[in-house]
Amino acid sequence: MQRRPVIVINFGSQYVQLIARRVRELGVYSEILNWDSTLEEIREKNPYGIILSGGPASVYSPSAPLPPEGLFSLGVPILGICYGLQLIAHLLGGRVEKADSQEYGRARLRVLKGDPIFEGTPNEFDVWMSHADRVTILPAGFKNLASSTGSPNAVIADQKKKIYGFQFHPEVSHTDYGKELLKNFVFNICGAEKNWQMGNFVEEKVEEIKERTKGKRVIAALSGGVDSTVASVLVHRAIGDRLMCFFIDHGLLRMGEREEVENSLKGLGLPLKVVDAGRLFLKRLKGVEDPEEKRKIIGNTFIEVLEDEARKVKEAEFLLQGTLYPDVVESAGIRGSAKIKTHHNVGGLPEKMNLKLIEPLRDLFKDEVRELGRILGIPEHILSRHPFPGPGLAIRIIGEVNEEDLDILRRADRIFIEELKKERLYNHIWQAFAVLLPVRSVGVMGDVRTYEKVIALRAVESRDGMTADWVRFDPEFLDRVMRRIINEVRGVGRVVYDISSKPPSTIEWE
Ligand code: XMP
Repeated sequence: MQRRPVIVINFGSQYVQLIARRVRELGVYSEILNWDSTLEEIREKNPYGIILSGGPASVYSPSAPLPPEGLFSLGVPILGICYGLQLIAHLLGGRVEKADSQEYGRARLRVLKGDPIFEGTPNEFDVWMSHADRVTILPAGFKNLASSTGSPNAVIADQKKKIYGFQFHPEVSHTDYGKELLKNFVFNICGAEKNWQMGNFVEEKVEEIKERTKGKRVIAALSGGVDSTVASVLVHRAIGDRLMCFFIDHGLLRMGEREEVENSLKGLGLPLKVVDAGRLFLKRLKGVEDPEEKRKIIGNTFIEVLEDEARKVKEAEFLLQGTLYPDVVESAGIRGSAKIKTHHNVGGLPEKMNLKLIEPLRDLFKDEVRELGRILGIPEHILSRHPFPGPGLAIRIIGEVNEEDLDILRRADRIFIEELKKERLYNHIWQAFAVLLPVRSVGVMGDVRTYEKVIALRAVESRDGMTADWVRFDPEFLDRVMRRIINEVRGVGRVVYDISSKPPSTIEWE
Protein backbone atom coordinates (compact mmCIF):
# COMPACT_ATOMS: atom_id res chain seq x y z
CA MET A 1 0.00 0.00 0.00
CA GLN A 2 1.27 3.45 -0.86
CA ARG A 3 2.26 5.51 2.15
CA ARG A 4 0.71 9.00 2.11
CA PRO A 5 3.45 11.63 2.38
CA VAL A 6 3.71 15.26 3.22
CA ILE A 7 5.40 16.49 0.06
CA VAL A 8 8.12 19.09 0.20
CA ILE A 9 8.53 20.94 -3.08
CA ASN A 10 12.09 22.06 -3.57
CA PHE A 11 12.73 25.57 -4.85
CA GLY A 12 16.48 25.40 -4.20
CA SER A 13 16.74 25.86 -0.43
CA GLN A 14 19.75 24.44 1.44
CA TYR A 15 17.22 23.39 4.07
CA VAL A 16 14.87 21.39 1.91
CA GLN A 17 15.87 18.01 3.29
CA LEU A 18 15.82 19.36 6.79
CA ILE A 19 12.14 20.17 6.32
CA ALA A 20 11.41 16.62 5.14
CA ARG A 21 13.37 15.24 8.02
CA ARG A 22 11.54 17.34 10.59
CA VAL A 23 8.28 15.94 9.25
CA ARG A 24 9.64 12.38 9.47
CA GLU A 25 10.74 13.09 13.03
CA LEU A 26 7.06 13.74 13.72
CA GLY A 27 6.37 10.18 12.54
CA VAL A 28 4.89 11.14 9.19
CA TYR A 29 6.43 10.06 5.90
CA SER A 30 7.80 12.90 3.81
CA GLU A 31 9.13 13.09 0.29
CA ILE A 32 10.84 15.77 -1.73
CA LEU A 33 9.81 16.67 -5.27
CA ASN A 34 11.50 19.21 -7.48
CA TRP A 35 9.62 22.39 -8.36
CA ASP A 36 9.25 21.32 -12.00
CA SER A 37 7.29 18.18 -11.09
CA THR A 38 3.87 17.97 -12.75
CA LEU A 39 0.55 18.34 -11.00
CA GLU A 40 -0.16 14.72 -11.92
CA GLU A 41 3.01 13.51 -10.16
CA ILE A 42 1.96 15.37 -7.04
CA ARG A 43 -1.64 14.21 -7.17
CA GLU A 44 -0.59 10.57 -7.62
CA LYS A 45 1.16 10.64 -4.24
CA ASN A 46 -2.12 11.53 -2.53
CA PRO A 47 -0.28 13.81 -0.10
CA TYR A 48 -1.58 14.84 3.30
CA GLY A 49 -0.14 18.26 2.67
CA ILE A 50 2.43 20.18 0.64
CA ILE A 51 5.27 22.35 1.88
CA LEU A 52 6.83 24.84 -0.51
CA SER A 53 10.47 25.32 0.45
CA GLY A 54 12.50 28.48 0.49
CA GLY A 55 14.90 29.29 -2.32
CA PRO A 56 17.39 31.89 -3.53
CA ALA A 57 15.19 33.35 -6.30
CA SER A 58 12.92 36.39 -6.26
CA VAL A 59 9.34 35.75 -7.45
CA TYR A 60 9.71 38.56 -9.99
CA SER A 61 12.82 37.19 -11.62
CA PRO A 62 12.18 35.87 -15.16
CA SER A 63 13.90 32.62 -14.17
CA ALA A 64 11.95 32.23 -10.90
CA PRO A 65 11.01 28.58 -10.35
CA LEU A 66 7.20 28.32 -10.17
CA PRO A 67 5.06 25.41 -8.97
CA PRO A 68 2.81 23.62 -11.47
CA GLU A 69 -0.38 25.44 -12.32
CA GLY A 70 -3.39 24.27 -10.37
CA LEU A 71 -1.39 23.45 -7.24
CA PHE A 72 -3.44 25.83 -5.09
CA SER A 73 -6.72 24.33 -6.32
CA LEU A 74 -5.85 20.74 -5.44
CA GLY A 75 -7.68 21.07 -2.14
CA VAL A 76 -4.54 19.84 -0.30
CA PRO A 77 -3.26 21.96 2.65
CA ILE A 78 -0.20 24.01 1.72
CA LEU A 79 2.52 25.67 3.78
CA GLY A 80 4.90 28.08 2.05
CA ILE A 81 8.20 28.83 3.77
CA CYS A 82 10.07 32.05 2.89
CA TYR A 83 10.20 31.96 -0.94
CA GLY A 84 7.25 29.54 -0.67
CA LEU A 85 5.25 32.20 1.18
CA GLN A 86 6.17 34.77 -1.43
CA LEU A 87 5.01 32.42 -4.18
CA ILE A 88 1.65 32.07 -2.47
CA ALA A 89 1.24 35.84 -2.20
CA HIS A 90 2.48 36.49 -5.74
CA LEU A 91 0.51 33.76 -7.51
CA LEU A 92 -2.77 34.29 -5.66
CA GLY A 93 -3.03 38.02 -6.32
CA GLY A 94 -1.14 39.62 -3.41
CA ARG A 95 2.03 41.67 -3.63
CA VAL A 96 5.67 40.95 -2.90
CA GLU A 97 8.22 43.76 -2.80
CA LYS A 98 11.87 44.20 -2.16
CA ALA A 99 12.31 45.14 1.50
CA ASP A 100 14.30 48.30 2.35
CA SER A 101 16.74 46.16 4.25
CA GLN A 102 17.33 42.43 4.09
CA GLU A 103 16.37 40.50 7.20
CA TYR A 104 18.85 37.83 8.27
CA GLY A 105 19.04 36.02 11.58
CA ARG A 106 16.97 36.23 14.70
CA ALA A 107 13.70 38.19 14.72
CA ARG A 108 10.89 38.48 17.25
CA LEU A 109 7.57 37.08 16.08
CA ARG A 110 4.31 38.45 17.54
CA VAL A 111 1.15 36.40 17.16
CA LEU A 112 -1.81 38.61 16.20
CA LYS A 113 -4.63 36.08 15.80
CA GLY A 114 -5.21 32.67 17.34
CA ASP A 115 -5.08 29.69 14.98
CA PRO A 116 -4.49 25.92 15.30
CA ILE A 117 -1.08 26.55 13.69
CA PHE A 118 0.05 28.23 16.95
CA GLU A 119 -1.04 25.48 19.36
CA GLY A 120 1.50 25.18 22.17
CA THR A 121 3.43 28.37 21.31
CA PRO A 122 3.54 31.61 23.34
CA ASN A 123 2.35 34.93 21.92
CA GLU A 124 5.89 36.07 21.23
CA PHE A 125 8.98 34.08 20.32
CA ASP A 126 12.18 34.20 18.30
CA VAL A 127 12.32 32.97 14.72
CA TRP A 128 15.06 32.70 12.11
CA MET A 129 14.71 34.93 9.05
CA SER A 130 16.69 34.95 5.85
CA HIS A 131 15.10 36.98 3.08
CA ALA A 132 15.27 40.10 0.93
CA ASP A 133 11.68 40.29 -0.41
CA ARG A 134 8.55 40.59 1.70
CA VAL A 135 4.80 40.37 1.30
CA THR A 136 3.12 43.79 1.37
CA ILE A 137 -0.43 43.03 0.18
CA LEU A 138 -2.24 39.79 1.02
CA PRO A 139 -4.22 37.85 -1.58
CA ALA A 140 -8.02 37.78 -1.16
CA GLY A 141 -9.14 35.38 1.54
CA PHE A 142 -5.86 35.66 3.50
CA LYS A 143 -5.38 36.99 7.01
CA ASN A 144 -2.26 38.24 8.70
CA LEU A 145 -1.70 35.98 11.73
CA ALA A 146 1.69 37.17 13.00
CA SER A 147 4.30 39.84 12.36
CA SER A 148 7.91 40.70 13.07
CA THR A 149 9.66 44.06 12.92
CA GLY A 150 11.04 43.48 9.44
CA SER A 151 8.07 41.47 8.12
CA PRO A 152 4.60 42.78 8.96
CA ASN A 153 3.13 39.70 7.24
CA ALA A 154 5.33 37.03 8.81
CA VAL A 155 2.56 34.41 9.05
CA ILE A 156 -0.38 34.54 6.68
CA ALA A 157 -3.20 32.10 6.05
CA ASP A 158 -6.33 31.39 4.10
CA GLN A 159 -7.83 29.36 6.92
CA LYS A 160 -10.72 28.07 4.81
CA LYS A 161 -8.51 26.72 2.05
CA LYS A 162 -5.82 25.70 4.56
CA ILE A 163 -3.05 27.61 2.80
CA TYR A 164 -0.39 28.98 5.18
CA GLY A 165 2.77 30.97 4.69
CA PHE A 166 5.74 31.61 7.03
CA GLN A 167 8.28 34.29 6.21
CA PHE A 168 10.78 32.60 8.58
CA HIS A 169 12.27 29.10 8.68
CA PRO A 170 10.50 26.79 11.17
CA GLU A 171 12.82 23.90 10.22
CA VAL A 172 16.05 25.37 11.65
CA SER A 173 16.89 24.90 15.29
CA HIS A 174 17.28 28.67 15.82
CA THR A 175 13.52 29.13 15.44
CA ASP A 176 11.94 28.59 18.85
CA TYR A 177 8.82 26.46 18.60
CA GLY A 178 9.68 25.62 14.98
CA LYS A 179 8.95 21.99 15.72
CA GLU A 180 5.56 22.86 17.21
CA LEU A 181 4.66 24.95 14.16
CA LEU A 182 5.50 22.11 11.78
CA LYS A 183 3.72 19.63 14.01
CA ASN A 184 0.64 21.84 14.03
CA PHE A 185 0.71 22.10 10.26
CA VAL A 186 1.15 18.35 9.80
CA PHE A 187 -1.45 17.20 12.33
CA ASN A 188 -3.85 20.10 13.00
CA ILE A 189 -4.01 21.50 9.50
CA CYS A 190 -3.26 18.46 7.28
CA GLY A 191 -4.81 15.87 9.60
CA ALA A 192 -1.93 13.49 8.85
CA GLU A 193 -1.64 10.12 10.58
CA LYS A 194 1.63 8.71 11.86
CA ASN A 195 2.99 6.31 9.27
CA TRP A 196 6.77 6.47 9.43
CA GLN A 197 9.49 4.97 11.60
CA MET A 198 13.01 3.71 10.97
CA GLY A 199 11.90 0.07 11.24
CA ASN A 200 9.69 0.58 8.18
CA PHE A 201 12.64 2.04 6.35
CA VAL A 202 14.68 -1.14 6.87
CA GLU A 203 11.90 -3.41 5.57
CA GLU A 204 11.22 -1.17 2.60
CA LYS A 205 14.86 -0.82 1.62
CA VAL A 206 15.53 -4.55 1.97
CA GLU A 207 12.64 -5.29 -0.40
CA GLU A 208 13.68 -2.54 -2.81
CA ILE A 209 17.32 -3.74 -2.91
CA LYS A 210 16.28 -7.37 -3.51
CA GLU A 211 13.98 -6.29 -6.30
CA ARG A 212 16.48 -3.96 -7.95
CA THR A 213 19.51 -6.25 -7.88
CA LYS A 214 17.61 -9.37 -9.05
CA GLY A 215 20.26 -12.01 -8.45
CA LYS A 216 23.19 -9.82 -9.59
CA ARG A 217 26.12 -8.96 -7.37
CA VAL A 218 26.77 -5.69 -5.56
CA ILE A 219 30.19 -4.22 -4.90
CA ALA A 220 30.65 -2.01 -1.86
CA ALA A 221 33.48 0.32 -1.04
CA LEU A 222 33.74 0.35 2.72
CA SER A 223 35.57 3.00 4.66
CA GLY A 224 34.78 1.67 8.12
CA GLY A 225 32.81 4.83 8.74
CA VAL A 226 29.24 4.87 9.91
CA ASP A 227 27.67 5.49 6.52
CA SER A 228 29.27 2.81 4.41
CA THR A 229 29.06 0.28 7.24
CA VAL A 230 25.36 0.84 7.79
CA ALA A 231 24.73 0.78 4.03
CA SER A 232 26.63 -2.51 3.68
CA VAL A 233 24.93 -4.22 6.60
CA LEU A 234 21.57 -3.17 5.15
CA VAL A 235 22.42 -4.58 1.72
CA HIS A 236 23.94 -7.69 3.29
CA ARG A 237 20.66 -8.25 5.05
CA ALA A 238 18.86 -8.01 1.70
CA ILE A 239 21.11 -10.13 -0.53
CA GLY A 240 23.61 -11.93 1.73
CA ASP A 241 26.93 -12.82 0.12
CA ARG A 242 25.91 -11.49 -3.25
CA LEU A 243 27.44 -8.39 -1.68
CA MET A 244 31.22 -8.09 -1.93
CA CYS A 245 32.91 -5.42 0.18
CA PHE A 246 36.24 -3.78 -0.53
CA PHE A 247 38.16 -1.65 1.87
CA ILE A 248 40.55 0.42 -0.19
CA ASP A 249 43.49 1.65 1.80
CA HIS A 250 44.30 4.86 -0.11
CA GLY A 251 47.24 5.63 2.12
CA LEU A 252 45.38 8.61 3.56
CA LEU A 253 44.02 6.86 6.64
CA ARG A 254 44.62 7.68 10.27
CA MET A 255 46.99 5.80 12.54
CA GLY A 256 45.98 2.16 13.06
CA GLU A 257 42.77 2.72 11.13
CA ARG A 258 43.22 -0.05 8.63
CA GLU A 259 43.53 -2.78 11.25
CA GLU A 260 40.67 -1.41 13.34
CA VAL A 261 38.34 -1.23 10.38
CA GLU A 262 39.27 -4.68 9.13
CA ASN A 263 38.51 -6.20 12.52
CA SER A 264 35.19 -4.48 13.04
CA LEU A 265 33.89 -5.20 9.55
CA LYS A 266 34.84 -8.84 9.70
CA GLY A 267 33.15 -8.94 13.11
CA LEU A 268 29.92 -7.88 11.41
CA GLY A 269 30.13 -10.85 9.06
CA LEU A 270 30.61 -8.77 5.93
CA PRO A 271 32.47 -10.43 3.03
CA LEU A 272 35.57 -8.23 2.86
CA LYS A 273 38.74 -7.73 0.82
CA VAL A 274 41.35 -5.14 1.78
CA VAL A 275 43.08 -3.48 -1.18
CA ASP A 276 46.43 -1.82 -0.66
CA ALA A 277 46.58 1.16 -3.03
CA GLY A 278 48.42 3.82 -1.02
CA ARG A 279 51.32 4.15 -3.42
CA LEU A 280 49.14 4.80 -6.44
CA PHE A 281 47.16 7.54 -4.69
CA LEU A 282 50.26 9.29 -3.39
CA LYS A 283 51.91 9.17 -6.80
CA ARG A 284 48.89 10.83 -8.39
CA LEU A 285 48.70 13.48 -5.67
CA LYS A 286 52.30 14.50 -6.09
CA GLY A 287 52.62 18.23 -6.74
CA VAL A 288 48.86 18.84 -6.45
CA GLU A 289 47.83 21.65 -4.10
CA ASP A 290 44.33 22.64 -5.09
CA PRO A 291 41.69 21.05 -2.81
CA GLU A 292 39.10 20.43 -5.52
CA GLU A 293 41.81 18.95 -7.72
CA LYS A 294 42.88 16.64 -4.88
CA ARG A 295 39.29 15.56 -4.32
CA LYS A 296 38.80 14.77 -7.98
CA ILE A 297 42.05 12.81 -8.29
CA ILE A 298 41.21 10.78 -5.20
CA GLY A 299 37.63 10.21 -6.32
CA ASN A 300 38.70 9.07 -9.78
CA THR A 301 41.55 6.89 -8.56
CA PHE A 302 39.26 5.33 -6.00
CA ILE A 303 36.72 4.36 -8.63
CA GLU A 304 39.46 3.09 -10.92
CA VAL A 305 40.87 0.81 -8.22
CA LEU A 306 37.41 -0.34 -7.30
CA GLU A 307 36.49 -1.03 -10.91
CA ASP A 308 39.64 -3.12 -11.25
CA GLU A 309 38.54 -5.18 -8.29
CA ALA A 310 34.94 -5.30 -9.47
CA ARG A 311 36.02 -6.76 -12.79
CA LYS A 312 37.28 -9.79 -10.94
CA VAL A 313 33.86 -10.35 -9.38
CA LYS A 314 31.56 -12.21 -11.78
CA GLU A 315 28.16 -10.67 -12.44
CA ALA A 316 28.91 -7.51 -10.51
CA GLU A 317 26.44 -4.94 -11.71
CA PHE A 318 25.97 -2.52 -8.86
CA LEU A 319 28.07 -0.24 -6.73
CA LEU A 320 26.88 0.53 -3.23
CA GLN A 321 27.62 3.94 -1.77
CA GLY A 322 26.86 5.34 1.65
CA THR A 323 26.06 8.79 0.30
CA LEU A 324 24.04 10.87 2.72
CA TYR A 325 21.81 13.79 2.06
CA PRO A 326 24.22 16.58 3.09
CA ASP A 327 26.74 15.18 0.56
CA VAL A 328 24.09 15.44 -2.12
CA VAL A 329 23.01 18.95 -1.20
CA GLU A 330 26.49 20.36 -0.84
CA SER A 331 27.66 18.88 -4.13
CA ALA A 332 24.56 20.48 -5.68
CA GLY A 333 23.06 17.14 -6.62
CA ILE A 334 19.78 18.92 -5.90
CA ARG A 335 18.97 21.24 -8.75
CA GLY A 336 19.03 24.88 -7.74
CA SER A 337 21.33 24.58 -4.68
CA ALA A 338 24.73 26.23 -4.76
CA LYS A 339 27.83 24.05 -5.00
CA ILE A 340 30.03 24.25 -1.89
CA LYS A 341 32.50 21.35 -2.28
CA THR A 342 32.77 18.32 -4.49
CA HIS A 343 32.19 15.50 -2.06
CA HIS A 344 34.13 12.46 -2.90
CA ASN A 345 31.22 10.06 -3.00
CA VAL A 346 29.24 12.18 -5.43
CA GLY A 347 31.36 14.55 -7.49
CA GLY A 348 34.30 12.25 -8.15
CA LEU A 349 32.30 9.60 -9.96
CA PRO A 350 33.28 9.36 -13.58
CA GLU A 351 30.34 9.75 -15.91
CA LYS A 352 31.03 6.51 -17.72
CA MET A 353 31.15 4.20 -14.76
CA ASN A 354 30.49 0.61 -15.60
CA LEU A 355 28.48 -0.03 -12.47
CA LYS A 356 25.03 1.19 -11.51
CA LEU A 357 24.75 3.05 -8.24
CA ILE A 358 22.81 1.98 -5.18
CA GLU A 359 22.57 4.68 -2.51
CA PRO A 360 20.10 3.49 0.14
CA LEU A 361 20.97 6.26 2.60
CA ARG A 362 20.70 9.11 0.12
CA ASP A 363 17.66 10.61 1.84
CA LEU A 364 18.98 10.37 5.39
CA PHE A 365 20.97 12.55 7.74
CA LYS A 366 23.79 11.29 9.92
CA ASP A 367 21.79 10.90 13.10
CA GLU A 368 19.10 9.02 11.19
CA VAL A 369 21.81 6.70 9.86
CA ARG A 370 23.04 6.03 13.41
CA GLU A 371 19.49 5.21 14.46
CA LEU A 372 19.22 2.85 11.49
CA GLY A 373 22.53 1.25 12.48
CA ARG A 374 21.17 0.54 15.97
CA ILE A 375 18.12 -1.14 14.50
CA LEU A 376 20.47 -3.25 12.36
CA GLY A 377 22.41 -4.28 15.49
CA ILE A 378 25.71 -2.55 14.65
CA PRO A 379 27.84 -2.04 17.78
CA GLU A 380 27.89 1.41 19.33
CA HIS A 381 31.66 1.91 18.95
CA ILE A 382 31.24 1.78 15.18
CA LEU A 383 28.16 4.01 15.16
CA SER A 384 29.71 6.64 17.37
CA ARG A 385 32.82 7.07 15.23
CA HIS A 386 33.30 10.62 14.09
CA PRO A 387 32.72 11.20 10.38
CA PHE A 388 35.86 10.90 8.30
CA PRO A 389 35.91 12.37 4.79
CA GLY A 390 36.35 10.08 1.80
CA PRO A 391 39.54 11.88 0.66
CA GLY A 392 40.94 11.23 4.13
CA LEU A 393 43.95 13.06 5.46
CA ALA A 394 44.63 14.53 2.00
CA ILE A 395 42.18 17.35 2.74
CA ARG A 396 43.64 17.85 6.22
CA ILE A 397 47.13 18.50 4.91
CA ILE A 398 46.79 21.90 3.36
CA GLY A 399 48.62 21.93 0.06
CA GLU A 400 50.65 19.05 -1.33
CA VAL A 401 50.43 15.65 0.36
CA ASN A 402 53.53 13.59 1.10
CA GLU A 403 54.54 10.70 3.38
CA GLU A 404 56.44 12.86 5.83
CA ASP A 405 53.50 15.20 6.44
CA LEU A 406 51.09 12.30 6.64
CA ASP A 407 53.20 10.84 9.39
CA ILE A 408 53.24 14.12 11.34
CA LEU A 409 49.52 14.60 10.98
CA ARG A 410 48.76 11.00 12.00
CA ARG A 411 50.73 11.32 15.21
CA ALA A 412 49.19 14.64 16.17
CA ASP A 413 45.67 13.49 15.34
CA ARG A 414 46.15 10.33 17.35
CA ILE A 415 47.13 12.30 20.46
CA PHE A 416 44.14 14.63 20.16
CA ILE A 417 41.68 11.73 19.80
CA GLU A 418 43.35 9.74 22.58
CA GLU A 419 43.00 12.67 24.98
CA LEU A 420 39.38 13.21 23.96
CA LYS A 421 38.58 9.58 24.70
CA LYS A 422 40.48 9.68 27.97
CA GLU A 423 38.37 12.67 29.08
CA ARG A 424 35.20 10.97 27.80
CA LEU A 425 34.61 13.91 25.47
CA TYR A 426 34.78 11.97 22.21
CA ASN A 427 31.17 10.84 22.15
CA HIS A 428 29.81 14.31 22.87
CA ILE A 429 31.47 15.83 19.86
CA TRP A 430 30.39 15.62 16.23
CA GLN A 431 33.91 15.61 14.87
CA ALA A 432 37.43 16.33 16.06
CA PHE A 433 40.71 16.16 14.18
CA ALA A 434 44.05 17.74 13.50
CA VAL A 435 45.04 19.68 10.39
CA LEU A 436 48.58 20.28 9.16
CA LEU A 437 49.22 23.78 7.88
CA PRO A 438 51.72 24.61 5.13
CA VAL A 439 53.43 27.26 7.21
CA ARG A 440 56.42 27.17 9.50
CA SER A 441 56.67 29.15 12.64
CA VAL A 442 59.54 30.16 14.88
CA GLY A 443 59.89 28.66 18.35
CA VAL A 444 62.42 28.02 21.04
CA MET A 445 63.08 24.58 22.49
CA GLY A 446 65.88 24.04 25.02
CA ASP A 447 67.49 27.40 24.15
CA VAL A 448 67.58 26.55 20.49
CA ARG A 449 65.66 28.42 17.82
CA THR A 450 63.22 26.16 15.97
CA TYR A 451 61.37 26.74 12.73
CA GLU A 452 58.70 24.09 12.47
CA LYS A 453 55.24 23.17 11.29
CA VAL A 454 51.87 24.22 12.70
CA ILE A 455 49.06 21.89 13.72
CA ALA A 456 45.52 23.24 13.91
CA LEU A 457 43.06 21.39 16.12
CA ARG A 458 39.44 21.36 15.04
CA ALA A 459 36.50 20.14 17.12
CA VAL A 460 32.87 20.92 16.32
CA GLU A 461 29.38 20.27 17.58
CA SER A 462 26.76 19.65 14.94
CA ARG A 463 23.51 17.81 14.37
CA ASP A 464 24.02 16.92 10.75
CA GLY A 465 27.21 18.52 9.45
CA MET A 466 25.24 21.24 7.64
CA THR A 467 25.94 23.80 10.35
CA ALA A 468 28.51 23.54 13.14
CA ASP A 469 29.97 25.39 16.07
CA TRP A 470 33.40 24.97 17.70
CA VAL A 471 33.66 23.11 20.99
CA ARG A 472 34.40 25.20 24.10
CA PHE A 473 37.06 23.03 25.74
CA ASP A 474 38.50 23.62 29.16
CA PRO A 475 41.78 25.50 28.48
CA GLU A 476 43.59 22.93 30.66
CA PHE A 477 42.53 20.21 28.27
CA LEU A 478 43.82 22.11 25.25
CA ASP A 479 47.01 22.79 27.13
CA ARG A 480 47.56 19.06 27.70
CA VAL A 481 46.96 18.24 24.06
CA MET A 482 49.30 21.03 22.92
CA ARG A 483 52.08 19.84 25.24
CA ARG A 484 51.80 16.25 24.16
CA ILE A 485 51.78 17.14 20.46
CA ILE A 486 54.81 19.42 20.66
CA ASN A 487 56.74 17.03 22.88
CA GLU A 488 55.87 13.83 21.07
CA VAL A 489 55.54 14.80 17.41
CA ARG A 490 58.78 15.81 15.80
CA GLY A 491 58.44 18.57 13.26
CA VAL A 492 55.62 20.44 15.01
CA GLY A 493 56.48 23.71 16.75
CA ARG A 494 53.08 25.28 17.32
CA VAL A 495 49.50 24.22 17.97
CA VAL A 496 46.46 26.43 17.32
CA TYR A 497 42.78 25.86 17.98
CA ASP A 498 40.25 26.67 15.25
CA ILE A 499 37.29 28.76 16.48
CA SER A 500 35.41 29.11 13.20
CA SER A 501 31.78 28.08 12.91
CA LYS A 502 30.01 26.72 9.83
CA PRO A 503 28.90 28.89 8.17
CA PRO A 504 30.87 30.95 7.30
CA SER A 505 33.69 28.34 7.42
CA THR A 506 33.29 24.65 6.64
CA ILE A 507 34.15 21.81 9.01
CA GLU A 508 37.14 20.57 7.02
CA TRP A 509 39.78 23.07 6.02
CA GLU A 510 39.72 22.09 2.35
P1 XMP B 1 32.43 20.39 5.36
O1 XMP B 1 33.91 20.49 5.39
O2 XMP B 1 31.87 20.46 3.97
O3 XMP B 1 32.10 18.94 5.90
O4 XMP B 1 31.75 21.34 6.29
C1 XMP B 1 30.83 18.46 6.23
C2 XMP B 1 30.99 17.02 6.59
O5 XMP B 1 31.35 16.25 5.44
C3 XMP B 1 32.61 15.65 5.59
N1 XMP B 1 33.30 15.79 4.30
C4 XMP B 1 33.39 14.83 3.38
N2 XMP B 1 32.97 13.57 3.39
N3 XMP B 1 33.88 13.24 1.25
C5 XMP B 1 33.21 12.78 2.32
O6 XMP B 1 32.83 11.61 2.30
C6 XMP B 1 34.34 14.50 1.16
O7 XMP B 1 34.93 14.90 0.17
C7 XMP B 1 34.10 15.33 2.30
N4 XMP B 1 34.38 16.62 2.58
C8 XMP B 1 33.90 16.88 3.82
C9 XMP B 1 33.29 16.40 6.70
O8 XMP B 1 34.26 15.59 7.35
C10 XMP B 1 32.12 16.76 7.58
O9 XMP B 1 31.73 15.69 8.41
